[in-house]
Amino acid sequence: MTKASVSPTCYLFTFEADPEFPTPRSGQFVNVAVSDDLTLRRPFSIAGIPAPGRFDLLVEMRGKGTRALAEKPIGSAVGVMGPLGNEFTLPEPGDVSLLVAGGIGTAGLRLLAQELRLGGHRIRTLVGARTSEGLLHHVLPSQAGDEEPSLEVATDDGSEGFHGTVTGLLKRALGEPDAPARVYCCGPPAMIAAVAGIAAKAGVPCEALLEEMMACGVGACRGCVVATRSGYKAVCSDGPVFDTSELVLEELVRA
Ligand SMILES: Cc1cc2nc3c(=O)[nH]c(=O)nc-3n(C[C@H](O)[C@H](O)[C@H](O)COP(=O)(O)OP(=O)(O)OC[C@H]3O[C@@H](n4cnc5c(N)ncnc54)[C@H](O)[C@@H]3O)c2cc1C
Ligand code: FES
Repeated sequence: MTKASVSPTCYLFTFEADPEFPTPRSGQFVNVAVSDDLTLRRPFSIAGIPAPGRFDLLVEMRGKGTRALAEKPIGSAVGVMGPLGNEFTLPEPGDVSLLVAGGIGTAGLRLLAQELRLGGHRIRTLVGARTSEGLLHHVLPSQAGDEEPSLEVATDDGSEGFHGTVTGLLKRALGEPDAPARVYCCGPPAMIAAVAGIAAKAGVPCEALLEEMMACGVGACRGCVVATRSGYKAVCSDGPVFDTSELVLEELVRA
């Protein structure tokens, strides 16, 4: 394991995987044994594949689990279960995809951005945060060489980019000619609900990666369920990626 600080509160970790570790797909996550003192593993989205046999995690320091991971010496062996969960649905060739990330939600879309760029898909990215310090757009794959500007940022306090929430940028993007055919989002529940509502109004399919509290990580404990139109579903095993038209958005925000 190696790590690099990418913001005042986030680290980018790179792990060398065991040979039998399957190649992760965008949307999937790992459940990490962050410390011998903490029984519960912590889930993190796979945030990139920097080289065959390696994977990245982009982790925001929240509490004792994430701090314990950051305090591990470089080169430590770490117990990782995965890749777990389902995957994003990839777009049709030629379609423009819009990636909408809030704060650490950027981690959940970083591998998708990498996969789409490698597959030759056209993408636009909207990244929001409360302040400029929370923006993580600089860890996304480079936009150099894009024919049109493909990245916009928003901050709630106006310290960088658009002054307001990332959903303000989304409304504008979906109203433009050559509007994206598909939206992917990851971020706080209120942001996901707002993005889902705007995409539904524009008639654009939207998928969200949910970061629900988890325990077992494999569908056994029902500790991570979300309300959907076809009943409660486990984020760890039915998700973490959901078509937002399936989610009961009022319950998502209330949880
Ligand atoms: C599928 C999935 C993917 C995720 N991907 C990432 C990622 O790529 N990068 C990242 O930084 N974080 C991600 N998270 C959230 C991450 O799991 C939590 O931040 C982490 O477990 C907090 O652990 P802690 O011990 O440091 O914090 P704690 O001391 O346990 O808690 C600190 C705060 O984090 C909240 N929290 C604790 N566990 C979770 C959880 N499982 N989900 C959401 N909030 C939680 C608590 O409510 C509390 O407010 C993901 C969560 C899921 C379910
Ligand atoms: S965490 Fe146990 S069922 Fe999802």
